[in-house]
Amino acid sequence: MRHLLSAADLDLASAQSILDVAEEMQQVQSRPVKKLPALRGRTVVNIFFEDSTRTRTSFEIAGKWLSADTINVSAKGSSVSKGESLRDTMLTLDAMGVDAFVIRHPSSGAAQQVAGWVKAQVINAGDGQHEHPTQALLDAYSMRHHFRSIGSDGFAGKKIAIVGDLLHSRVVRSNVLLQRTLGGEVVLVAPPTLLPTGVETWGCPVTSDFDAAIADADIVMMLRVQRERMAGGFFPTEREYAEGYGLTEARLAAMKPGAAICHPGPMNRGVEISSAAADAANSLVLDQVAGGVAVRMSVLYHLLGSDEGAM
Ligand code: NCD
Repeated sequence: MRHLLSAADLDLASAQSILDVAEEMQQVQSRPVKKLPALRGRTVVNIFFEDSTRTRTSFEIAGKWLSADTINVSAKGSSVSKGESLRDTMLTLDAMGVDAFVIRHPSSGAAQQVAGWVKAQVINAGDGQHEHPTQALLDAYSMRHHFRSIGSDGFAGKKIAIVGDLLHSRVVRSNVLLQRTLGGEVVLVAPPTLLPTGVETWGCPVTSDFDAAIADADIVMMLRVQRERMAGGFFPTEREYAEGYGLTEARLAAMKPGAAICHPGPMNRGVEISSAAADAANSLVLDQVAGGVAVRMSVLYHLLGSDEGAM
């Protein structure tokens, strides 16, 4: 595989291989010397046209721990702020001999477009409201750990409720596609105003009854209310949103025994997730962050680990 643009690019064997190699990569995290020689001499440019804490830092750490030369470019501080087009910016960096771009951009389809322009390999780190495949992979990685920790393996038959601002979320789209391959049963929960058009074609049950969905979910994945992508009133007040669609203390108590909580971050505490739920013993939020480095190491390794791309 040359690029990772969509979770749909992954068949079962490649998705599983990424998750399995990530297990090995995670061992590096607990070593005093966090370095493997696998990508020595390779150059990875992280180019972010949107804000990010987790994704950008974890890709940078992942590249460094694999001995790649990683360079961060952000739109602010680059010639983009002088009016240079995306195409010219990418061709300029490509001409320097970059091996891979990790790109985040506010336009859906940007990563795909870039992949058509440059010689380098491209990893989509979030394009608009479209996709965020490495987030879905790290979600799957954390869920798999959790399922194993309670003595149950595999995604088949597991119910994953994805709750909240589905309309603006690239995380939900990539999770739906990846779980189609891995076998988890995704249930979508949102107020009608935050449902994407065409959601009925995604092949997942859709409901606005969070309380009913919580009763049999093995994973409750909360999504951030994406204020920055909202122009109008998608819901009356934050308090009302929290009452209907927040993972409150009462809903935390109503979760099935053995069920766990995910959130891709950044969290709006008190809106989509209460502090009680965010910090609960069954919250995987920080496991997701830790696993995110390992999964991104594995993705970089799979794409850049041999001349052809190892996948
Ligand atoms: C998500 C994103 O940027 O799409 N966050 C992330 O990558 N950790 C979700 C979000 O911004 O709410």
